[in-house]
Amino acid sequence: MTLLQAATDVRLHAYAPYSRFKVGAALRTETGTVYVGCNVENVAYPEGTCAEAGAIAAMIAGGDTRIAEVCVIADSPDPVPPCGGCRQKIAEFAAPGVKVTLCTTDGKERSLTVGDLLPGVFTAAHMDRA
Ligand code: THU
Repeated sequence: MTLLQAATDVRLHAYAPYSRFKVGAALRTETGTVYVGCNVENVAYPEGTCAEAGAIAAMIAGGDTRIAEVCVIADSPDPVPPCGGCRQKIAEFAAPGVKVTLCTTDGKERSLTVGDLLPGVFTAAHMDRA
């Protein structure tokens, strides 16, 4: 199954009664396993979680740590980029050159890299003097 298909399928499980904006994310690890996630909202709005965060949590629970590719899909006029927090979460487990494909349910696609999404990323190296 392609990452796009996996993201498309899991998006249908999104719990988004407040925004009504369902998002699906799928990632493939360097070992070839695919993990998926969808957004899970909460009546206490800040407690909601993004699709990307769900896929990353599934990856860690599955015993993997390195992302090779990401795909995100939503029903939006243009491909929706991950929020700032998710960019940092993805960067924790992906090299700057890793491809992130953003898709819409009506077939638009935009591909960019983790480095494009988060230039100047904060890394563990910045704490070397601590
Ligand atoms: N959302 C995601 O799951 N991923 C994104 O990349 C953008 C935003 C979710 C969070 C919230 O449930 C809804 O979309 C509206 O912000």
